[in-house]
Amino acid sequence: MKTLFNIAVLASGTGTTLQALIDNQALHGYHVALVVANRPCTALERAQAAAIPTLQSKDWEAIDQALTDNHVQLIVLAGFLAILPEWICQKWAQRIINIHPSLLPKHGGKGMYGIHVQEAVLAAGDTEAGCTVHYVSAEVDGGNIIAQATVEVLPDDTPETLSQRVQAEEKKLLPRIIGELSINL
Ligand code: GAR
Repeated sequence: MKTLFNIAVLASGTGTTLQALIDNQALHGYHVALVVANRPCTALERAQAAAIPTLQSKDWEAIDQALTDNHVQLIVLAGFLAILPEWICQKWAQRIINIHPSLLPKHGGKGMYGIHVQEAVLAAGDTEAGCTVHYVSAEVDGGNIIAQATVEVLPDDTPETLSQRVQAEEKKLLPRIIGELSINL
């Protein structure tokens, strides 16, 4: 029997992206083996409701050990609002991916997260917004881009309405890309 591709999801917030990853496991042929949060959050509750092992920690030695213990093959940052130490980026190079709610390299870097990103998109007068799945390197939002999905910016968009449409794309793109990586990694 083929063993499923094990992923760990790192999250800090409401965990709606995590929920999409949980809900699409069977469809895309991966297994959420571990959920790590750096603070108490709804994402942890979602993992517990789905009977997925969890770890709440800011200790990267402990996190690294849990990744190994749970046979994790790919780390997925899904709304994880902490910067990874360089040694983790190096040790897990090409095995950490992130979803960012903009068309990188636009609107990335430190301080660019969540609704702030769509505020920046509207302030810049962009006609397109979207999301990016990319490899994680020591440079924030700077790793190689794997895939993007685009949405049109509408004349009456607010950061909230735009964010809703971008997040809907994120929830389709990320599970699909993990499924594709599981075949090639
Ligand atoms: C997602 O939109 C994700 O792209 C974004 O946080 C949201 C998490 O929502 N991540 C970043 O902005 C990272 N720079 P969730 O907690 O409901 O999954």
